[in-house]
Amino acid sequence: MKAIQNIVILTGAGISAESGVATFRGPDGLWEGHRVEDVATPEAFVRDPDLVQKFYDERRAKLKTVQPNAAHQALAKLDRTWAGELLLVTQNVDDLHDRAGSKRLLHMHGELNSAWCLACDARSPFDGVMAAAPACPHCHQPGCLRPDIVWFGEMPYQMERIEQALSNCDLFVSIGTSGAVYPAAGFVQTARYHGAQTLEINLDPSEGSFHFHESRMGKAGELVPGWVEQLLSHGLC
Ligand code: APR
Repeated sequence: MKAIQNIVILTGAGISAESGVATFRGPDGLWEGHRVEDVATPEAFVRDPDLVQKFYDERRAKLKTVQPNAAHQALAKLDRTWAGELLLVTQNVDDLHDRAGSKRLLHMHGELNSAWCLACDARSPFDGVMAAAPACPHCHQPGCLRPDIVWFGEMPYQMERIEQALSNCDLFVSIGTSGAVYPAAGFVQTARYHGAQTLEINLDPSEGSFHFHESRMGKAGELVPGWVEQLLSHGLC
């Protein structure tokens, strides 16, 4: 098996499940009681901004009650100690990777703790209540902030940087994602096309499971720390 230098890791809602953050695609097909198209599209925001703001306000408030778990901690340890290139791309809008200490981290679907001003286009750290129509910290216009979250139909962040890292990695690892949402669901194919080893760690097989060289099924909090130790001691996947 080939020695690994450059790593790209993709995470999804499953990595935060053991911290108590709800995943998107539960057995009832709803996300915390809502259809995704009622709260996670630009059209929903135009139709019912109050519902959308309150929905994300609740998710943001919930962040203050949850903690990073063993999987977030293990990836942060890998980030601190890995001498080669490493990029952790998360689809999650929670801040659990940040709080665990990951630095080489990119939030491709935005962040709950960030506000985007539709009046002046500035992004600012935000941990309050957007439904209360606060003023933008930059332009001071009230009621113009929206969650800095990539909704369905919008372009994920930093795709060029992600594509570049994928084309240059020796190992691609996907953790806790259903593989239902593109472009993230296609990263495994891009990495494989460029010759990377590919590993999936998930509770059950994702939609694109057959694309991976190896799949490990189980909870991220149990499997990720072991995988990180294996990588750090042998440099092999
Ligand atoms: N450990 C590992 N995997 C888990 C765990 C766990 N403890 N619990 C659940 N999972 C798995 C589920 O089996 C599922 O395959 O995590 C996956 C979560 O899938 P989704 O809920 O679809 O979340 P995700 O893949 O992150 O969604 C992608 O969809 O709605 C959009 O923008 C949103 O970023 C999100 C994107």
